[in-house]
Amino acid sequence: MIPHRASFPEGFLFGAATAAYQIEGSRFGGAGPSHWDTFAVTPGNVVQAEDGSTACDHYHRWAEDLDLIRAAGFDAYRFSTSWSRVMPDGVTINPEGLDFYDRLVDGMGARDLRPFLTLYHWDLPAALSDLGGWRNRDTCHRFADFTEAVIRRIGDRVETVATINEPWCVAWLSHFIGAHAPGLRDIRAAARAMHHILLAHGLSMERMRGLGQKNLGIVLNFDHATPASDSPADQRAAAVQDGIFNRWFIEAITRQTYPEIVLEGLAPHMPDRWQDDMGKIGQKLDWLGVNYYTRHLHADAPGTAWPATREVSGPLPKTQMGWEIYPEGLEGFLTRLARDYVGDLPLYVTENGMANADQPGIDDEGRIAFVARHFEAAQRAIAAGANLRGFFYWSLLDNYEWAEGYQKRFGLVHVDYESLARTPKASYHALQRALARN
Ligand code: NOJ
Repeated sequence: MIPHRASFPEGFLFGAATAAYQIEGSRFGGAGPSHWDTFAVTPGNVVQAEDGSTACDHYHRWAEDLDLIRAAGFDAYRFSTSWSRVMPDGVTINPEGLDFYDRLVDGMGARDLRPFLTLYHWDLPAALSDLGGWRNRDTCHRFADFTEAVIRRIGDRVETVATINEPWCVAWLSHFIGAHAPGLRDIRAAARAMHHILLAHGLSMERMRGLGQKNLGIVLNFDHATPASDSPADQRAAAVQDGIFNRWFIEAITRQTYPEIVLEGLAPHMPDRWQDDMGKIGQKLDWLGVNYYTRHLHADAPGTAWPATREVSGPLPKTQMGWEIYPEGLEGFLTRLARDYVGDLPLYVTENGMANADQPGIDDEGRIAFVARHFEAAQRAIAAGANLRGFFYWSLLDNYEWAEGYQKRFGLVHVDYESLARTPKASYHALQRALARN
């Protein structure tokens, strides 16, 4: 059973999360192309070359979707603003785009849902991608301008703002592993993106502070790096991956340094004088968002170039993504963050959830158990002293799962991509019972 809200501290917030490109439909409302639109339709990048041009048609069905969030009993909604919708060419404002988010936050207000805004959840305008995207330092300044356009319009009605969602995905997954747009596999591109995405965060924070915006943070993803064996070589592999995935971003932000174990590989490829930016990157946060899904097992890959690691399949039960179910990792990160990095800074689990091959009418019991176990892990972390203030389920709806297309279903609500009909799953109703206030 999913722990009831009464078993969490007073005022703990429960929410659902989504992201613009994954649900809105990028062809509506005068949006420009983003690098995801073009990456997706290039053969070999995305399962069945599916894209987000229609997605869940949330651009037109947003009111129904907000009703679903309200009816589930959630307190808050985490959403993102699409840069390519607000600025189709990366610099010029599309009034229709801002109008959409204006209606959306008013819609949340009307339903007593607290808006948790994420400025960047990966829809980089293609025009900026043409200029090098996150490899180009100028993109960081353009991002600060985008920040200002959004904040001036809706900043008065949002509860919190996150600058960037999952910088590891923006930088490493997209420029080193090559699995997400722009699909590069190049260490120099990766090193630049690893730094520039944090500089963009810093410039955006600075711009918002200047505008008087409150409650500013960032959303980082954490993935428990487990050595595939006890051998020193596999332990080194896990430590390097822990550095790239988990330490790089949080240490830049809280200590104004990058971990040595990662600089061993990246230093020669970093932008000139990157050290001069660390003060801007490490500005004080008001809160930190934690996205957590799984762990990975890492082994040494002798004879390959740095980081010389490879992933090994683990023994635990897996979700439809092939990700091991490992709630202990969530507890571990929340307590590790509090102990080693942020002290009693407010933390939110900004994403946690599982993909399942759901069809309407089929109970998603596995998801209910998944949520229950992760809620319990969060409660153990709170008991151990982590200042956790809220928990957002990913995702409200089945949606566009990036390189995996539409086959991987994370939603509490099923989406039929032919009719676009929404059907709440058993997990939606189970959460509704857990969140009921009486
Ligand atoms: C993290 C990302 O923020 C989100 O866009 C994605 O759909 C989920 N993880 C699931 O992979």
